[in-house]
Amino acid sequence: MGNLMDLNERGVGGTGFARWTMMTRAAVVLALAAMCGSAAQGQMTAATHAGAADGPWWKHAVIYEIYPRSFQDSNGDGVGDLNGITQRMGYLQSLGVDAIWISPMYPSPQVDFGYDISNYVGVDPQYGTLADFDKLVAAGKEHHVRVILDMVLNHTSDKHAWFVESASSRTNPRADWYVWKDPKGFDAQGKPIPPNNWISGFGGSAWEWVPARKQFYYHEFYKQQPDLNWRNPVVEKAAFDAMRFWLDRGVAGFRLDAIPTLFEDPQMRDNPVEKPGLNAQGDPNLSDMYTSNLPEVHDVIRRMRAMADSYPGNRVLIGETYLPNIAELNKWYGGEKQDELQLPMDMQVGFTNKLDVPLLRQRIKDVETQIGKNHPLLVFDNHDNGRSWERYGDGVHNEAIARLIATLLFTSRSTALMYYGEELGMVTSTPTRKEDVQDPIGITGWPKEKGRDGERTPMQWDASVDAGFSTAAKTWLPVAADYKTVNVKVEEGEPNSLLNWHKKLIALRRDNSALRDGSMTMLDESNNSVLSFVRKGPAGSVVTVLNLTGTEQTVSLDVSGSVTTLVTDVPGLMTGVSLKKMVVPAFGSWVGAVK
Ligand code: NOJ
Repeated sequence: MGNLMDLNERGVGGTGFARWTMMTRAAVVLALAAMCGSAAQGQMTAATHAGAADGPWWKHAVIYEIYPRSFQDSNGDGVGDLNGITQRMGYLQSLGVDAIWISPMYPSPQVDFGYDISNYVGVDPQYGTLADFDKLVAAGKEHHVRVILDMVLNHTSDKHAWFVESASSRTNPRADWYVWKDPKGFDAQGKPIPPNNWISGFGGSAWEWVPARKQFYYHEFYKQQPDLNWRNPVVEKAAFDAMRFWLDRGVAGFRLDAIPTLFEDPQMRDNPVEKPGLNAQGDPNLSDMYTSNLPEVHDVIRRMRAMADSYPGNRVLIGETYLPNIAELNKWYGGEKQDELQLPMDMQVGFTNKLDVPLLRQRIKDVETQIGKNHPLLVFDNHDNGRSWERYGDGVHNEAIARLIATLLFTSRSTALMYYGEELGMVTSTPTRKEDVQDPIGITGWPKEKGRDGERTPMQWDASVDAGFSTAAKTWLPVAADYKTVNVKVEEGEPNSLLNWHKKLIALRRDNSALRDGSMTMLDESNNSVLSFVRKGPAGSVVTVLNLTGTEQTVSLDVSGSVTTLVTDVPGLMTGVSLKKMVVPAFGSWVGAVK
């Protein structure tokens, strides 16, 4: 699987018991929360929400991914829509997010739930209309929430008019818009043999035969998602025109889907076998050396950046960049030239899937120190991976662990990308019966690969029917079982909820100059249990201490100055803290100011 990380390494859901345990602990801390809040206020600088003085907006941003089918249904059909997102702008503003990235909402047969686009310049009727989209952007402006769209450039739907025409003959005007290839030969039964061994990330051969052309076309993903031929300059022009259409409508930028896979080897050589055995889809484990991250892609990205930069307002290009190492990631920024993506996602930190201090420390150091003057983008959750609640949780301390993850995300020197429901502690609700599965990968891969439905369940707003997501008798995916206690309304009312933890940290990173713009240096690097680092700014420093183990740890940090707690879930660390000797209980988080 080239670009989806842990499809066969999903964790299983956290238990109700675990959450009950942590709620009890949260209640203990409740009385002390007000104090913590006022300490945080004391550290606030004059930095404002707009923050134009200290670089482009995206540098300090919290970007919130919305899976539109699952966020808010405004018309009672069981599927989320654009007007639903508009209705929830007040919530997004109160959380403190600067931008939302909306997964594809263009017209689509929905084979891959929108990642199979049949028209780049419209809105799928399930999600609304262009006028609804314009209203959403306008509402976003009112609430200081920018709108970023998902742009799928590697492939279209097989129902897109471009593909229908391309597939019709070898001589039509769009004959060369997709990746077509003659068969290697024919077998004894006269069946065409695919040109090479390339396999689809979603299982099976990546080649599909079209009798009308007597040729195969290449599809990195489902066969309903034929790959565009980016060696054809007319394809680039059509794609850039589509992007302009949305930039003209006021979008703040794009998240570029599967962007490393735009080009394939022109000689179409077989991908080498990487390791023995078969993957979850029953295919050989091949390297993707001839189908991903080919150097040609960078020329396209440079031209795309120039196009985006021709618009005012720092439009941002974000990459879905699952890459093998940091040197490769740096190339996606354009290295020192900084002329490619502003924010290719770092997937090395957020998807380690274990609370391994030396590993996390090293990966954070890599992205903090080995991308020159470029700016990291960290992410722990998205619509393709089981939620971090289980990927990092131990089944007992999941809520405390979720606080650790949030603290790491929001106090690091990086742009922060989060996924709807992460702020509530939404769990992964993987289907238990094949007949309930919606994601085609789960249907073809069952039971080894159960698909991605589990991390796409409806947003949990309140304890009413359908968790306040919809009024439909049946929602497109079932609401997770814990919605009566894990929802926005309940958590808004609890000062120490995970939601309020997120709000506090997001406000702090916006308003505290050290967190906003300070340097980041690891502390106590020989400690294999506690991750600690300091952010140094002109008006003081902020230190983060995270105990990533299930046992109490005592740390001694080489930082001098007077210490004030800003945010912690440890009652004993609210006041009177000394960094020379600090006792941090299992999975405890502490953030404090040092002057
Ligand atoms: C990556 C997207 O995040 C995923 O959901 C999608 O299935 C593939 N790209 C194909 O577009």
